[in-house]
Amino acid sequence: MGTRGLIFSSALLLLLLAQPVLVISATPPFACNPASSSTPTFGFCNTTLPIDKRVNDLISRLTLEEKIQQLDHKAAEIPRLGVPKYNWWSEALHGLAWGVHFDPIIPGATSFPQVILTAASFNPDLWYRIGQTIAVEARAMYNAGHAGGLTFWSPNVNIFRDPRWGRGQETPGEDPITASKYAVAFVRGLQGDTATGGRSGQLMASSCCKHFTAYDLDRWNGSVRYNFDARVTAQDMEDTFQPPFRSCIEQGRATCIMCSYNRVNGVPTCADYNLLTKQARKAWGLDGYIASDCGAVDLIYGASRYGKTPEEAVGYALKAGLDINCGHYMNEHAGSAIQKGNISESDIDRALFNAFSLRMKLGLFNGDPQKLPSGDIPPSQVCSTEHKKLALQAAQEGIVLLKNNGNTLPLVKSKITSLGVIGPNANTSSSLMGNYNGPPCEVTTPLKALKSSVNNIRFEAGCNLVACNVTKIPEAVQLASSVDYVIMFMGLDQDQEREGFDRMDLVLPGMQQTLVSKVAEAAKKPIILVLISGGPLDITFAKDDPRIGAILWAGFPGEAGGSAISSIIFGEHNPGGKLPVTWYPQEFTKVPMTDMRMRPDPTTGYPGRSYRFYTGKTVYQFGYGLSYSNYSYEFEAEAATSIYLNNSLSPQATSNDPNTLSYDIASLGFNTCGKLKVSTKVGVKNHGPMAGKHPVLLFSRWPSTEHGRPVKQLVGFQSVHLEAGESTKVEFPLSACEHLSRVVDDGRRVLDKGSHFLIVGDKEHEINIVS
Ligand SMILES: *[C@@H]1O[C@H](CO)[C@@H](O)[C@H](O)[C@H]1NC(C)=O
Ligand SMILES: *[C@@H]1O[C@H](CO)[C@@H](O)[C@H](O)[C@H]1NC(C)=O
Ligand SMILES: *[C@@H]1O[C@H](CO)[C@@H](O)[C@H](O)[C@H]1NC(C)=O
Ligand SMILES: *[C@@H]1O[C@H](CO)[C@@H](O)[C@H](O)[C@H]1NC(C)=O
Ligand SMILES: *[C@@H]1O[C@H](CO)[C@@H](O)[C@H](O)[C@H]1NC(C)=O
Ligand SMILES: *[C@@H]1O[C@H](CO)[C@@H](O)[C@H](O)[C@H]1NC(C)=O
Ligand SMILES: *[C@@H]1O[C@H](CO)[C@@H](O)[C@H](O)[C@H]1NC(C)=O
Repeated sequence: MGTRGLIFSSALLLLLLAQPVLVISATPPFACNPASSSTPTFGFCNTTLPIDKRVNDLISRLTLEEKIQQLDHKAAEIPRLGVPKYNWWSEALHGLAWGVHFDPIIPGATSFPQVILTAASFNPDLWYRIGQTIAVEARAMYNAGHAGGLTFWSPNVNIFRDPRWGRGQETPGEDPITASKYAVAFVRGLQGDTATGGRSGQLMASSCCKHFTAYDLDRWNGSVRYNFDARVTAQDMEDTFQPPFRSCIEQGRATCIMCSYNRVNGVPTCADYNLLTKQARKAWGLDGYIASDCGAVDLIYGASRYGKTPEEAVGYALKAGLDINCGHYMNEHAGSAIQKGNISESDIDRALFNAFSLRMKLGLFNGDPQKLPSGDIPPSQVCSTEHKKLALQAAQEGIVLLKNNGNTLPLVKSKITSLGVIGPNANTSSSLMGNYNGPPCEVTTPLKALKSSVNNIRFEAGCNLVACNVTKIPEAVQLASSVDYVIMFMGLDQDQEREGFDRMDLVLPGMQQTLVSKVAEAAKKPIILVLISGGPLDITFAKDDPRIGAILWAGFPGEAGGSAISSIIFGEHNPGGKLPVTWYPQEFTKVPMTDMRMRPDPTTGYPGRSYRFYTGKTVYQFGYGLSYSNYSYEFEAEAATSIYLNNSLSPQATSNDPNTLSYDIASLGFNTCGKLKVSTKVGVKNHGPMAGKHPVLLFSRWPSTEHGRPVKQLVGFQSVHLEAGESTKVEFPLSACEHLSRVVDDGRRVLDKGSHFLIVGDKEHEINIVS
């Protein structure tokens, strides 16, 4: 396969994927077969030895040639040692997708909603259970010889920095705390740890946080991810781009991190020793391997010319700390890189040590995989009833009710004599899946789900495609005027936002808006608009149009998406999802997507990004979402109002901000920070009329937004289930150093002396930091 040239199109991806990955057999090939006479002589097969000894034994037996063949994602078989080939590349963003083999025996896997919708639940317990469920399905497929590996390059925890990003749909949104909590919960679930992080014995699967780092532009107005140089300030790096990766490694204990295509401040991330080794491995303590995005090592030479030769590219990557290259660049160039002196054999040994250690921790060198602790999980676990129910629950918990004038929703089934369903997203299953999806267990489209609830349904797509450049407006209008109720399914699909393709607009594509307005005008009653999309949309026209009674955002809701939407429309589920990204107006598209700055710049009119900094108008705010119930909040009366530091250290003013005294968090140190904790309780009441799950979002803010302080910052969230009329208290354990601190220009974290405010709903509570 040719390399450069292909890299610049998705052809590389397709070629890599299209290769026959697996030999299908009842039992996967495995190392250390007890039936083999040499097994007892191999130290690496001796499970009573510690893993580092076993790995060193294995590496000591390999020739240089064999070692080089282990550096790419398709690690070669080593027949003389009975070590089978291994495919490092599998994907499970929201269900098993790639690197596993679907056939008539296992035709599909549970397809959860695209991550951006699952994030809208603000429910870490749900995120954990999704990871856990995927791991069970992964082991079931592995046991049946249907998986090339157990190393999944999921989750994607990049910050959804710009609403146009085609891969924003894959992420948990724009907030670093939400993305961090998502990373921790999903990784713990997928790797088989307990929800609180406990680990015993073998890993269920390996999870990989990607793409490290500041990667959030694919292809926009001439800029392409492969050579885009993200110019990021130390401040934005520390309080926006890095937190999800840090949490993923430190608390989630992910066993992999993946470096990205782009450069950061001039250096390709896969060639950056400071990022990969100093930060991820040493400072954060990564215990696992570092993978490259597919083709990213090639790009160190090819796209950015950071390396002058392929051998230099290989040298930069391995010396930066990369362990596994996605692609085949190492096979091609690692040998000559040794000859030219750009790497030494010990660089390769280090990479192999990390790689083989992980394969052993997955139990892959412990003999017959069916005798492993997870070896008895049968294929019937894939798409089990329980798993399918979780996919439905995830979609239900994520869907956001954006508008509900005069209680348009829920509809009462018995009162519907006729229902018109209109729109290009009503009867397609592919739109529901997002990307990085495998074949689902089964799909219920919105049209199908509604048909199972209501008898007299008529359907008109109204547009040829989601692009909506050919319409059937007269037909749609005719339908709308002849039925009782109208529900429209509009929005986006992968032709509009996807990997390798960012949007230029935030409005609905093509003639969609015209179609919606004409239908709303013709309908007998205010219509219901359901938006299928990953990224946000400027639907101000619909928000303002009284003939549009209700609006739901349903993300890309996965295999049970149609059922979830239908259950909300008919009031069988009370919506509680909240937007995990700011919905910006179309005018935001004047801002260059290439400008990485999070903070506004009043001198140039740059508005800043995300709810933490953006100063412009919004269509809907981060955290917005209605419900069929009304909830109220109260800070508990005895909530702490002061935190005392006892003058252990004198606060300092920074040069550009002489009026505020603050404490340097690093100087306060772990012990002092450990004492600066406050537990805050918030009373929440469901005023009815329905029971529901409700995420409670707690923010903090400073007395001013000067000197780059965020407008506010989410500091905690919890999802509570409350019956109609029920109330409860939700406890938020807060640490001043972690939750009330901010990052200054040079990237240091500081805690301001004086006033801070906690916010929940329309309530505020002041806390003072006292020296
Ligand atoms: C495995 O290692 C242990 C500990 O070093 C040793 O006692 C034992 O003999 C080894 N087993 C085999 C089969 O070599
Ligand atoms: C790679 O090797 C070449 C040839 O020996 C040498 O000129 C170059 O400086 C080396 N590059 C690096 C980054 O070590
Ligand atoms: C919905 O889509 C399915 C599958 O493409 C098709 O068979 C069916 O006719 C469509 N339903 C309507 C009412 O158009
Ligand atoms: C409509 O858009 C699609 C997808 O962008 C395109 O392939 C097609 O040619 C367009 N059709 C017309 C009539 O413009
Ligand atoms: C897109 O690129 C063109 C040509 O370089 C430039 O004139 C234009 O300002 C860019 N658009 C934005 C929104 O930055
Ligand atoms: C919910 O509370 C708001 C503010 O108190 C009030 O205006 C609104 O009428 C209430 N809605 C319902 C459904 O009770
Ligand atoms: C400061 O003193 C108070 C009261 O003695 C104590 O509760 C608190 O833990 C102290 N704070 C620190 C940071 O030592």
